[in-house]
Amino acid sequence: MLRTAGKNSHPDEAERKYRAEMTEKIAALKEKRNAVLLVHNYQRDEIQDIADIMGDSLGLARAAAETDKDVIVFCGVVFMAESASILNPRKTVLLPVKEAGCPLADMATVEELRKIKERFPDAAVVSYVNSSALVKAESDICCTSANAIKVVNSVKEDRIIFVPDRNLGRYVAGHTDKEIILWPGYCETHDRLRAADILECKKKYPDAEVIAHPECRTEVLELADAALSTSGMLRYAEGSKAGTIIVGTEIGMGYRLKRENPDKTFIFPSECLICETMKMTTLDAVHNALENMVHEIRVDEETRRKANIALTRMLEVV
Ligand code: 13P
Repeated sequence: MLRTAGKNSHPDEAERKYRAEMTEKIAALKEKRNAVLLVHNYQRDEIQDIADIMGDSLGLARAAAETDKDVIVFCGVVFMAESASILNPRKTVLLPVKEAGCPLADMATVEELRKIKERFPDAAVVSYVNSSALVKAESDICCTSANAIKVVNSVKEDRIIFVPDRNLGRYVAGHTDKEIILWPGYCETHDRLRAADILECKKKYPDAEVIAHPECRTEVLELADAALSTSGMLRYAEGSKAGTIIVGTEIGMGYRLKRENPDKTFIFPSECLICETMKMTTLDAVHNALENMVHEIRVDEETRRKANIALTRMLEVV
């Protein structure tokens, strides 16, 4: 079943009134707390509407490292708020819904990583930011979907333990001479998308271009014109001449793609492209976070210090 971006983004009168009231209350609290609202591209439409800064994981990590506000409200998932706190420990980082985790990040434990490191002592560990602070602390360098190839090529070792996303790892392996040791993790949302979904969509929209997130399976990426991070998709859409673009990523991307490119049509090739935890953050939860200063995300200092080295190295790879 296909879904067209923008079709479900029309709140009724009552919802519009509620959103306007909450937006005002949140703005007042933001001022009081001297807070900045960082919002990932997959968040609900109404959360995107109140963002100070929106972006992909890389852009938001940079924004978190650079902000001069006292409080960072992170509208995303746990690993993103953790990275913000690691990079900027003097700030208070709030995650509006503390249960908003990332199943992919939970697929790698530091104990398992240590075992693999023992088996391959000559390998560097590159951890995708969708990982726990402990895994980052055990890594040489982090990467995001936007810079994974550059990061892997930047390390001196020829052999890389790539943790935890096997699909992104395979994609990187196809773009480097280095040997990539894959971890069996995957994003439940992106991994659901299959080549058959794209092919069916292409039948209906033969002139459409296809963009996909590198967390998708190889069979999907092989059919894509470009494999891109979420912010990469926005830049691609802006520069593309195609009137219709098939988008292989979480459905939340549709709102911003359509808002910034109103004359283009964006098709999501499956109804399954919904990340439940990204959708947990509501206006009520953001309001509650700022009013009650919850839920603060902090990493113990020893882990933070080590994870910060891996994250900072990543930010230094241009
Ligand atoms: P981006 O870094 O491309 O925004 O991706 C984040 C993510 O968690 C994808 O599932």
